[in-house]
Amino acid sequence: MSAILTVDDLRVSFATEDGVVNAVDGVSFDLAAGEVLAIVGESGCGKSVTAQTLTGLTRAPNARITGSVNYRGREINGLNDNQLRDVRGEQIAMVFQDPMSALNPVYRVGDQIVEMIRAHRDVSKKEAHAKTVELLRSVGIPNPERRARLYPHEFSGGMRQRVMIAMALALEPDVLIADEPTTALDVTIQAQILQLIDRLNRERDLAVIIITHDLGVVAEVADRVLVMYAGQVVEDATLDEIFYAPKHPYTWGLLGSLARLDQPRTARLTQIPGAPPSLLAPPPGCRFAPRCSHVFDRCAEPPPLEARTGGSHLDRCWLDAEVKAHHGVRVGAPPTRRVEGVQHG
Ligand SMILES: Nc1ncnc2c1ncn2[C@@H]1O[C@H](COP(=O)(O)OP(=O)(O)OP(=O)(O)O)[C@@H](O)[C@H]1O
Ligand SMILES: [Mg+2]
Repeated sequence: MSAILTVDDLRVSFATEDGVVNAVDGVSFDLAAGEVLAIVGESGCGKSVTAQTLTGLTRAPNARITGSVNYRGREINGLNDNQLRDVRGEQIAMVFQDPMSALNPVYRVGDQIVEMIRAHRDVSKKEAHAKTVELLRSVGIPNPERRARLYPHEFSGGMRQRVMIAMALALEPDVLIADEPTTALDVTIQAQILQLIDRLNRERDLAVIIITHDLGVVAEVADRVLVMYAGQVVEDATLDEIFYAPKHPYTWGLLGSLARLDQPRTARLTQIPGAPPSLLAPPPGCRFAPRCSHVFDRCAEPPPLEARTGGSHLDRCWLDAEVKAHHGVRVGAPPTRRVEGVQHG
């Protein structure tokens, strides 16, 4: 599979009164056509800033961006507003965590999608309306002709998230970036939205970047997973590698805090002790070291992200390959669906 999106050494920092916040600190990855990549990590690790920077939405005057975001051979980092308008929506579309913030409350939902299509395509109102109804139907909104005439507040949370996805698909992008698309929803609705993303990925060969703090969500849909910690990628591997042979102690911690179907309900979930470091002054060596129960001398030196045992499974940890293999198997678990009774794979 060849990459349609290549991110190389992306760095985003914000100048603040307290100093420079290095929100994204050297992130690199490829996204292949039709691939579902998940970016996982605790709050504040730089997931949203990474996602927003991919579509040129990191616009704060105090932001400094370096590195490369290459979409099908075209450099996106550094494009002006006009050039970005073509990329955004047409090639790479985004779905945000809070759909209310992206919908205009005073316009009917259908009209908002019609306007968006007409801003980019030379089509009549009637054609744009037909396309809108078809889009709403394709994301599982019942009775789309009638629903298109409703206002955003007349939709439930799950239906509103479907509207956002319909809007994101309106210009037939190759890449959909979904930033925490399910966090605000209850578990059953979350599962439905993830099934929708999964179906769109298969039917349209849509490449998806899904951002979440929840490894359970990842198990539902991802082909590959980037685990982020304190602005950096600490592990980059396939879904199966992350669940069956995880190599980074932080990933072990995330897996330990996941509710599992292969254990009794009463089994206690372990939380990772401590809190992520400040991005103003992260620890000089391994950034996870202060919270890591496997820490040793070498961790005073920052570990690079690399494939330590060949292959494409990358991790950023000095521990011995054998220790990682031994421990990874112990904490590893089959990817389990969040909805009880439905087992994945
Ligand atoms: N405009 C800004 N100015 C200063 N700091 C910022 C700015 N935008 C983001 N940050 C900081 O960048 C860091 C990364 O934020 P980001 O929103 O990417 O985290 P996240 O991983 O998406 O977290 P969450 O899971 O809570 O959504 C945070 O420390 C945040 O405070
Ligand atoms: Mg975020």
